[in-house]
Amino acid sequence: MPPTIPNRQWTSHLNGISNLTLTQTTTSHPATNEVLVRITAISLNYKDGETISGQFNHHAAVSLPSTIVPCSDAAGQVWEVGDGVTRWKKGDRVLALPYLEYKTGRITQEMLGSGIGSSGKGVSCEYRIFEEDALLPVPESMSDEEACTMTVAGITAWMAMNGQRPLGSPGGQEEVVLIQGTGGVSIQGLQIAKASGATVIITSSSDEKLARAKALGADYTINYKTTPDWDVEVLRLTSGRGADIIFENGGAPTTAKSFNCIRFGGLFNAIGYVSGKVDPKDEEKTNINVQAIRKNVILVGMLNGPRDRVVEMLEFYENHGIKPVIDRVFKFEEAKEALQYLWSGSHFGTVVVKVP
Ligand SMILES: NC(=O)c1ccc[n+]([C@@H]2O[C@H](COP(=O)([O-])OP(=O)(O)OC[C@H]3O[C@@H](n4cnc5c(N)ncnc54)[C@H](OP(=O)(O)O)[C@@H]3O)[C@@H](O)[C@H]2O)c1
Repeated sequence: MPPTIPNRQWTSHLNGISNLTLTQTTTSHPATNEVLVRITAISLNYKDGETISGQFNHHAAVSLPSTIVPCSDAAGQVWEVGDGVTRWKKGDRVLALPYLEYKTGRITQEMLGSGIGSSGKGVSCEYRIFEEDALLPVPESMSDEEACTMTVAGITAWMAMNGQRPLGSPGGQEEVVLIQGTGGVSIQGLQIAKASGATVIITSSSDEKLARAKALGADYTINYKTTPDWDVEVLRLTSGRGADIIFENGGAPTTAKSFNCIRFGGLFNAIGYVSGKVDPKDEEKTNINVQAIRKNVILVGMLNGPRDRVVEMLEFYENHGIKPVIDRVFKFEEAKEALQYLWSGSHFGTVVVKVP
């Protein structure tokens, strides 16, 4: 056996997507309890564009090296197993956890440092070694391209819906869920909420995307560009009661409106900040979503989900026959174009890179 295996990987100096470089390196063989995975599909997230552009700077506990291998969500195939590995064999299809140490309960500050594609080496490569318990099986019903969307976009949406309920008791019936935008987290949120029996209101800047959301089961759609007072519309649609659960993705310009249209005792999931981290009216004031996420406070500051919740979610997807929506699949060599496409916000659902 040759001592190393050739391994192409994308690297970033945190200076923008256009400066990503594809380099030829090598990987070693797996050590005890390790598994060498041949990456087959990578899902791209907003966070990846942010990290590569040097803007992922709101977690004091996460220190980034000056050069990183970006991206955290991948599916792949077990290529080689080290001594002592009991869970996996060559050929198994697997998913990687984006926070390698986050296995159950709530994430701790220390676990943030186990994030991959940021402090730790990411998955935009052909091969990567993982500890065996950082991997999960790919559900039979999903392709690798579909499965790789589950560990950030999927689990974030899952936790927004179910993270406050006891493990093993997904609910949703009778609830009105307000989802902002039509990106990766939002569309998985729509699918989960509809399969749970909830009523979904979704917002977007695009009527065409809203029509697609409607086709996926959204009950009500609001264009937040042509209806800037979308909070008032949510109140109207809910007879003044407000939404039970909000996927707050917008950040600075949307939080006040979300508070306006959430019901008394509702669940405000502070998930994102796609339209700004700072308050446009007060540059000194970091947006509430960012503050909530930073300390994972019970606002709820949503910060990914643990292994047992991923297992729970994958079962739910299997049982309901849910297929994650993939907007476009790019080739590995086109990762830059894929990230630029994601960063432009033109997509609906998830953008995936396929590794040969
Ligand atoms: N806390 C966590 O654990 C966690 C995990 C995953 C993601 N996130 C965060 O969640 C956010 C979404 O992530 P993602 O990966 O799903 O992003 P994405 O796929 O890049 O989605 C971006 C979408 O956001 C929508 N958007 C932009 N401005 C908006 C506004 N003012 N109001 C409503 N929607 C708006 C747009 O939808 P339209 O084109 O339809 O207008 C855009 O397509 C990001 O901020 C990300 O950092 C957090």
